Amino acid sequence: MAALVKIGVLILIAAAVCQGYQDIYDFDGKKLQDTDYVSLWPLPQKVQSSATAFKLSSVNFQIIHAKGSSAGSSCSILQTAFRRYFDYIFGYKKKQNTKWEPKKTFGEAVTQLQVLITSTDSECDGFPDPKADESYELSVDQPAAMLKASKVWGALRGLETFSQLVYEDEYGSRNINKTEVSDFPRFAHRGILLDTSRHYVPLKVILANLDAMAWNKFNVFHWHIVDDNSFPYMSRTFPDLSQQGAYHPYTHVYTPSDVKMVIEFARMRGIRVIPEFDTPGHTQSWGKGQKDLLTPCYSGSTPNGNYGPVNPILNSTYEFMADFFKEVSTVFPDAYVHLGGDEVDFTCWKSNPDITKFMDDHAFGRDYSKLESYYIQRLLDIVSTTSKGYMIWQEVFDNGVKIKPDTLVHVWIWWGEGGYKAELGRVTSAGFQTLVSAPWYLDHISYGQDWQNYYKEDPQDFNGTEQQKKLVIGGEACLWGEYVDATNLTPRLWPRASAVSERLWSDKSVRDVNDAYIRLNQHRCRMIERGIPAEPLFSGYCRHEYKGNL
Ligand SMILES: *[C@@H]1O[C@H](CO)[C@@H](O)[C@H](O)[C@H]1NC(C)=O
Repeated sequence: MAALVKIGVLILIAAAVCQGYQDIYDFDGKKLQDTDYVSLWPLPQKVQSSATAFKLSSVNFQIIHAKGSSAGSSCSILQTAFRRYFDYIFGYKKKQNTKWEPKKTFGEAVTQLQVLITSTDSECDGFPDPKADESYELSVDQPAAMLKASKVWGALRGLETFSQLVYEDEYGSRNINKTEVSDFPRFAHRGILLDTSRHYVPLKVILANLDAMAWNKFNVFHWHIVDDNSFPYMSRTFPDLSQQGAYHPYTHVYTPSDVKMVIEFARMRGIRVIPEFDTPGHTQSWGKGQKDLLTPCYSGSTPNGNYGPVNPILNSTYEFMADFFKEVSTVFPDAYVHLGGDEVDFTCWKSNPDITKFMDDHAFGRDYSKLESYYIQRLLDIVSTTSKGYMIWQEVFDNGVKIKPDTLVHVWIWWGEGGYKAELGRVTSAGFQTLVSAPWYLDHISYGQDWQNYYKEDPQDFNGTEQQKKLVIGGEACLWGEYVDATNLTPRLWPRASAVSERLWSDKSVRDVNDAYIRLNQHRCRMIERGIPAEPLFSGYCRHEYKGNL
């Protein structure tokens, strides 16, 4: 009798101590419902869950290729993903979260997740492209759950969803409810921009953030790899660019094998890598290793030792660009390269007498945007010969440069009449595809929950026809690097960028900030469990707190 009472008390204590994954409070300090299992992020298009819970145990659970799948053990994307997700599910990823697990499970268990690739071409050996099929169907039942996707890209997204459905009960064992999910992204292009020029970002940090991107179903890494401040990209054709232009020629560079590793790591997670080589502005670091590339600035009639944007009047400039972008097009497999074209300062061009003469010869008057257009036009023609598509910042479009019909116009300016929405109207009525970043400059920080502002934006919420809205193919959250390096990049990005990930993946109707708050808290705790120091949304705690990287 006494023993029985003791066991009862123990169970009560255990239940009281471990109850709840995380208590969540609203802004007035009111405790919200316990939401152990409601932690899907971004929310799938369609979820049907039930109150039937199954056990999941690391000793008898496996993720395997389904019979009849067009992908098998030679598909390294899936093989490595199976291992990765097994580890996430059972908390093996980081030593800091060693978890106690009962050897025996009680009740019905899910013992397999079978992954079926239905298309004859699984795309296992390929790179994700702008048309990658990321849709999937997930059916969780016992004894086997089934994940069905046409391509590996959908399977990757489905594996993430499956792992998010798993929750820990009060005794520390893993559960998953009977669930049906049918899912696909609302937008094809869902990106993160990282800037590795203002500060050098170590490879390890880039890779960790690619992982976090996959947990948020982001699929584009926009690598703003060089800028005024430094040129860390190591070029085989022009080694002096990084030799002279990087912060340090050996320790602060991305070697060809570093770049390869980033691209392959991203591919394994269904993420495209789009490099940005921004010209003719933002190029001070280029000038250090490439003589005569930049425009000499004048004071009166003599050069003053300063340099401006790329010199658009020399043939050598275009010969260099042709060789350079030929290399870029072979190093980066993606169908697109970002050519920048933003914020060109005309002061130096105005000061230079040779430029003035060139303007006169070409009847440009004193309209320097015509000179900018002249340069961009020639650059676009050069890049076209590499058979890459290009993305450009909106100024190129605004200045009336002739661009190819498949050009992606990247909208980033949030000020001015009508804000960025007016620009979306202009770009799409001209028939161009566009991409939104204007409301998602995550380098701008402020007190409070700014993620809610990001969450409330909608890329298709502008005055335009249905046809125009279809031209919005997605967006990117940008984390510019002036105040960001390895010490604060990751917590500044997550979970704030997650707000953007749900906006770009989930249905338009998913807009409830309170519901998002609850799920995002759980999602943030999950990122922490997987080893990412994602910052808090507000007061509260995670069941498994971040323990640092000591
Ligand atoms: C999962 O199952 C548990 C146990 O039956 C139930 O309490 C809970 O509401 C279910 N969760 C969902 C999201 O349906």
